[in-house]
Amino acid sequence: MTSLELRLKVNGRVYRVRRDPDRPLLAILRNELGLTGTKYGCGEGECGSCTVLVEGSAVRSCQLHLGEVGAREVTTIEGLARNGALTPVQQAFAELGAFQCGYCTPGMVVGATALLRSHPAPSRQEICTALEGNVCRCGGYARIVAAVQRAAELARAKEASV
Ligand code: FES
Ligand code: FES
Repeated sequence: MTSLELRLKVNGRVYRVRRDPDRPLLAILRNELGLTGTKYGCGEGECGSCTVLVEGSAVRSCQLHLGEVGAREVTTIEGLARNGALTPVQQAFAELGAFQCGYCTPGMVVGATALLRSHPAPSRQEICTALEGNVCRCGGYARIVAAVQRAAELARAKEASV
């Protein structure tokens, strides 16, 4: 690694990226690492379509600069499934058809994952509060909330983590 590069841990892999601390993480994920599951919506921290996990916490990757990530582990939508098996959240979204165009879905799934890891049995209100910064332009909120509730049930039934 040269002094012009930084290490970035994403989905269990270490990447070398250009040392440019002010670049948004979202741009690096999509344009350099090819992880296009994380979506660009507003670019201003207002829509949640760019949500990723940083050490397990949901973060707007359009608002997080490379220099702020440091050695922390980033997980994108591509990094959630394990050994090809959908997580309970992914399974529930698919089962309930909790998407129309799907543009908001990666951010919703990642946000819901962070919620269920900290609150395995959230109330409807807690789900709405956790995802209130995630915009669905298709208006599919009712199914999205139902899918998060279903994901919590699936995780409990399987005694699996989300
Ligand atoms: S693109 Fe990041 S919050 Fe909208
Ligand atoms: S499913 Fe289209 S934006 Fe949510």
